[in-house]
Amino acid sequence: MRFKAMTAIAALVAAPLTVMAGPDDDELVINGEINIVTKTAAPAHLDGALPEIYSGWRFRSDETQALEMDDFENPGMVAVDAAREVWDKVDGSEGKACASCHDAVEDSMVGVRAVYPKWNETAGEVRTLETQINDCRTNRMGAEAWKYTSGGMTAMVALISLQSRGMPVNVAIDGPAQATWEQGKEMYYTRYGQLELSCANCHEDNYGNMIRADHLSQGQINGFPAYRLKNTKLNSVHDRFKGCIRDTRAETFKPGSSEFVALELYVASRGNGLSVEGPSVRN
Ligand code: HEC
Ligand code: HEC
Repeated sequence: MRFKAMTAIAALVAAPLTVMAGPDDDELVINGEINIVTKTAAPAHLDGALPEIYSGWRFRSDETQALEMDDFENPGMVAVDAAREVWDKVDGSEGKACASCHDAVEDSMVGVRAVYPKWNETAGEVRTLETQINDCRTNRMGAEAWKYTSGGMTAMVALISLQSRGMPVNVAIDGPAQATWEQGKEMYYTRYGQLELSCANCHEDNYGNMIRADHLSQGQINGFPAYRLKNTKLNSVHDRFKGCIRDTRAETFKPGSSEFVALELYVASRGNGLSVEGPSVRN
């Protein structure tokens, strides 16, 4: 089995004999004032599987990196501004806006992104930000749910993420969230598709290598939502998971499915200690 994965990787890794490029040493400071931790010690639960953890920012070209260093250059900020207006807009049968209950997003949502996905006691489930937002929309506003990966939803998640920018990712993996976390961990190491590749085969065993034209990162999600130059929009975490699984030529899970929620919790926990960076810019 191990041999099979190595063969698939060898076929995909563009130039296996060139020197490993690895992450670069650049430091990310946004707007000249927000220091972002893009490299730090791996969380204990990784048991040495990664010596250090890196944000995907460290693997991008200087040009792409620069776009994230200044909010005026960051193309993801347009969507954030649009979400700011939606925050104050009444919608649904109860005549309420997000602001009716949560007041200013700059106050009420500080630190929220850093701890999601998170166990919700009342619902008895782990929730992503998207799931929680749709719960507020349907059960508290009497409004329609947003499609999980829609532009409006992803923009709202970006606006909320922005309020935690620079704070360390710190999702809980124990207590009632543990079973979901274990499920996500198992998925991370499961080989999918015709290529029989797991997330770990690429993002743990081969980060730093070139795969096709891409510099492989550790597949961290501290930077999400991520504005991708490739599709010129903000992309949600589950959109990215879907794309990666599809690249192994496998059937994928649905955005918002319990499987992807579990995978998101696990992948988020691999980045505990990195700064919340969203909305980031990637290629
Ligand atoms: C009628 C009041 C109400 C409205 C309107 C409302 N929410 Fe909420 N929201 C709540 C309550 C109450 C909670 C706590 C829910 C819980 O813990 O189960 C909450 C929780 C949240 C959380 C999680 C916060 C945390 O610390 O975990 C987010 C994010 C959120 N709401 C976003 C939104 C957004 C975005 C909108 C608008 C689309 C919105 N809410 C509209 C009442 C509301
Ligand atoms: C065949 C190799 C391959 C596999 C398998 C794979 N990915 Fe990826 N993934 C990539 C490439 C290439 C990129 C784009 C460059 C980068 O950031 O690594 C990427 C990007 C990502 C990103 C974006 C990182 C950022 O900072 O923008 C995340 C998150 C991610 N992958 C998660 C996963 C998860 C979770 C799995 C397993 C379900 C997975 N990937 C499986 C190749 C792979």
